[in-house]
Amino acid sequence: MAKRVAIGQAGGPTAVINASLVGFVEALHQEAELFGVYNGYQGLFENDMEKLDSELLGWIKLHKLVNGACLGSGRYEFTKEKMQRSISHLKSRGIDTLVFIGGNGTMAALQKLSEEARQMKYDLQVIGIPKTVDNDLAETDHAPGFGSAARYIATSVRDISRDLCAMQNFEQVRILETMGRNTGWLAAASGLLKNGEKDGPHYIYVPERPINHALFIDHVHEAVRSYGYATVVVAEGCTINAYTDQVEKATVNGRAVLGGISKVLEDIVKTELGVMARAEILGMNQRSSSTTASTQDRIEAYEAGREAARLVCCDETERMVTIQRTTDLDYNFSMNSCPLHVVAQGGERFLPDAFIDDPEAFYNWLRPLAGKDLQPYPIVRKRRIRNEKHKHSSIPSS
Ligand code: F6P
Repeated sequence: MAKRVAIGQAGGPTAVINASLVGFVEALHQEAELFGVYNGYQGLFENDMEKLDSELLGWIKLHKLVNGACLGSGRYEFTKEKMQRSISHLKSRGIDTLVFIGGNGTMAALQKLSEEARQMKYDLQVIGIPKTVDNDLAETDHAPGFGSAARYIATSVRDISRDLCAMQNFEQVRILETMGRNTGWLAAASGLLKNGEKDGPHYIYVPERPINHALFIDHVHEAVRSYGYATVVVAEGCTINAYTDQVEKATVNGRAVLGGISKVLEDIVKTELGVMARAEILGMNQRSSSTTASTQDRIEAYEAGREAARLVCCDETERMVTIQRTTDLDYNFSMNSCPLHVVAQGGERFLPDAFIDDPEAFYNWLRPLAGKDLQPYPIVRKRRIRNEKHKHSSIPSS
């Protein structure tokens, strides 16, 4: 008898999450009866699922290049009771396999669902497909979604920095805030296309190393003095000096929505250096822009979906698909998998010291994921500018 398999998407979407869904359904629709779960784990709890007939299947396939999560996603607090009810829904539909595309929270919930089903004496196969722009999932070289977000950030910061470079007599400092929650992978990606020391970003701050207030002021002062402008990138999860809290915009269902550290730094620069500074939050385009999606990222997201289908057919369970980098010189990858409980044990995966201390090593690692076609702009040449407006500032014009 054919397996009955439910697939859902959870957490913040990416530019390529639908490619994983399409890869999965294309690989499995002839072998199994497929069901789509709407709105992530909430749909599982509410029994909001639909059988993928040929019309729905065709509609899903149209989303291979579309960002967002076409089944609906969301953030959902999954309690033990809610899990038990969800498993009852699967049981009543005769669904014996559950596959979810998501990040750390999604994988932890999948593992718990599997354990809960075991206690309920229901034989449930569970498989996870990785997805996160933050790249904070353990056990995989990188997660689908990250390469595209990194590409967006690298090109946006390159461009915003050239814009600032042109406007030095009016504005000297821009502080650009990236996503990434508690990790600095995305912020670090902003330097991928920097060409020489005069080019931005001049400084990148990651949550793995708290910002030292005094050093930050020195950095900005030095860049404005030497180059006439300073492009600074800060990850949303950064803290200023050890022991201070992250800057939060709001709390939704008990979850902190991070954001605003760039504005705090803008105020510090204005007050302490007396120059014009502007904070910019790079915003939701980081995880949603389809125009800057990385081709490599799309390919890998699709292949991750296909690999999950293969694991389903092989009766594997409690596993997450992983991406392995097979060569360093000429980038290549292969699909693998690891136990879900190992992913959970690994917790958040931080930007390693080796990459923080050796940015070139990080950029060599990142380049194939963001796209080898990306090119830096020509070098920035120093020009003489008499800075009328800010002649009273503490920084002499360059
Ligand atoms: O999907 C992950 C993420 O992009 C994080 O980098 C970021 O903190 C978060 O989503 C933003 O979404 P929200 O505003 O819902 O917290």
